[in-house]
Amino acid sequence: MTTTTLRPAAAAGAVGTAHPRVEGLEKVTGAARYAAEFPLPGLAHGWLVVSRVARGRIRSIETGPVLAMPGVLAVLHHGNAPRLNTDFEGLFGRPDQTAAVFQHDRVPHAGWPVALVVAETPEQAREAAESLTVTYDEEPHDIALTADRPDACTVDDHMPGVTEKGDLEAELAASAAVVDAEYTTPEEHHAMMEPHAATARWEDGRLDLLDSNQGTTWVQRELAGLFALDPADIRVRSEHIGGGFGSKGLRAHQVAAAMAARVLDRPVRVVLTRRQMFSLTGHRSPTVQRVRLGADADGRLRALEHRSLNRTSTVHEFLEPAAIPARVMYDADAHRTAMEMVRLDLPSPTWMRAPGEAPGSFALESALDELAEKLGLDPIELRLRNDPERGPVSGLPFAGRNLAACFREGARRFGWAGRDPRPGVRREGRWLLGTGTAAASFGAGAGPSTATLTAEPDGTFTVRIAAADIGTGARTALTLVAADALKTTPDRVRVRIGDSAFGPAMIAGGSTGTRSWSWAVMAAAEELRERLALAPDIPAEGITVRADTTEALGTLSQKERHSFGAQFAEVAVDPATGEVRVRRMLGIFAAGRIVNPLTARSQLVGGMTWGLSMALHEEGVRDRAFGGLYGGDLAGYHIASHADVPAIEADWVDDPDPEDPVGIKGIGEIGIVGAAAAVANAVWHATGVRHRHLPIRPDRVI
Ligand code: MOS
Repeated sequence: MTTTTLRPAAAAGAVGTAHPRVEGLEKVTGAARYAAEFPLPGLAHGWLVVSRVARGRIRSIETGPVLAMPGVLAVLHHGNAPRLNTDFEGLFGRPDQTAAVFQHDRVPHAGWPVALVVAETPEQAREAAESLTVTYDEEPHDIALTADRPDACTVDDHMPGVTEKGDLEAELAASAAVVDAEYTTPEEHHAMMEPHAATARWEDGRLDLLDSNQGTTWVQRELAGLFALDPADIRVRSEHIGGGFGSKGLRAHQVAAAMAARVLDRPVRVVLTRRQMFSLTGHRSPTVQRVRLGADADGRLRALEHRSLNRTSTVHEFLEPAAIPARVMYDADAHRTAMEMVRLDLPSPTWMRAPGEAPGSFALESALDELAEKLGLDPIELRLRNDPERGPVSGLPFAGRNLAACFREGARRFGWAGRDPRPGVRREGRWLLGTGTAAASFGAGAGPSTATLTAEPDGTFTVRIAAADIGTGARTALTLVAADALKTTPDRVRVRIGDSAFGPAMIAGGSTGTRSWSWAVMAAAEELRERLALAPDIPAEGITVRADTTEALGTLSQKERHSFGAQFAEVAVDPATGEVRVRRMLGIFAAGRIVNPLTARSQLVGGMTWGLSMALHEEGVRDRAFGGLYGGDLAGYHIASHADVPAIEADWVDDPDPEDPVGIKGIGEIGIVGAAAAVANAVWHATGVRHRHLPIRPDRVI
């Protein structure tokens, strides 16, 4: 994988220069401790027991025999667990009630936590947990997601569920070309390297949690709600995180560990197994989407409708906002988006990298390709002819929309010019070859954060912020941002993150983390430099300032603020075996100022790799009879392996956000957006067959 970075005419400084991870040595030498690795005196180990039935009530839990097993200390369940307060709002609305463990006998889905067995060692806990007899009064369950569900409903949560303008049917009837197609995406799972794990201990009524999460403030606030505590009485630490893309918030295991630690009055650790992660840590809901497009002969869109349906659980409302791209990407005289969900007897879905945009862009960008085919127009040209001046739904101007620049640079680098648009005509031995493209967008937001900066007497600086580095390189990015802001060099800045004691901060989520935290670091650095200018002598305890961006964020102008991108893929398809090989991918992004080209490139390539995996491999398959997954592990749930991933190039065009102190927009999720559509469009170009259902498995190709 190689990248030639387009260098903006940037000023000298650390931001914009490639910098290896500041904690890289700690990680590769094993010195970096993850949540399950802290040695603690008196540590006990909890093992979760999850439901084998898909719906019903717990009739009995036979704790007696298990309590007599070696090392077993306790069995917590709905009959004896401490009561929790479930009526509160977290940082992002009402939390998923799956985390409020052992509060009732109802079983809403297979894999629901029904008990925690605690023992002296993990092995004893596991053996006892696997021996625990739980009997259920089973009830019939319903897990079928179909387009015609009469019980589908919408919510106006953080955004309206439905938007509409114009007369859709009239514009479709007047169109020279129409596309009307259904697209589906399957259940998908996060499967990060480090399984969820937490260690809880109580001291003088205060809870201390060693955890792996995407936001210590977030987890602290939700624990405070559940245990009816002042957040100041909870400290959550999460220094190193082995991956997380939406699923590492507050979940059953942290709450179970905290409960057990309180009941036993000793530290308790709960680590999830890979299999438990498939039911307890969220996933991306499958979607059923319908896209209708109508255009004049020159490609101008007259009608655009994007509808999406996802499923959620009976304990939590989660809307996968798959029609969001249509609200950003393309305008039309008649424009309608609608997002609905249906409650089923299944685990709660949650955010997964580019929630909404990832599955939504597959449908919308495939439909655009189908429209280009019908019109006999180049797919890039069709997109450029429909590149709007203002937000199609909001009417607001864009805070930078450099999509056309991405397509121009991408087309040049990929070698798009002169592409024969006819499908199924390029052969190389047994392979049919094709190329495809798709557009990408993802919202660029920021959340309030607190940063504390200390000028140390030895001339170095310490930054403290409750940021989370889920593998993105956020810690390193903040080091570069702080170095420039303090007019020093990165080696004189140490950045400490992942501790709720550092004050409230935004999560690593929604591609907003590095932007939100950098803003706070910039604000604190400015104040610190002013203080140092007035009093340059630094006392032994250093000079410390703290900044909070809550008010500063309120001054951001109302604009459509997004990152954009152009995705390209080349595939080879064997029509006899149905095998699809991606030969190369290129993504060019307009995603704000790039703080660290080294880790930014990894982030974008990682997103594109995930998009490839989404296009060809990933699929959680449910057993209708039992409600569980057929292969709830990494043997059954296929993820692209090294051999599946070819040369992937990611690069960017200059696109700083003028309203951001650093110019950042956010790069966390844009890499996955549109990647699956680019692959699917390339498969069509190779074979002449449209694939509207992911993944594009061999049996669907032959
Ligand atoms: Mo994310 S899916 O915003 O961690």
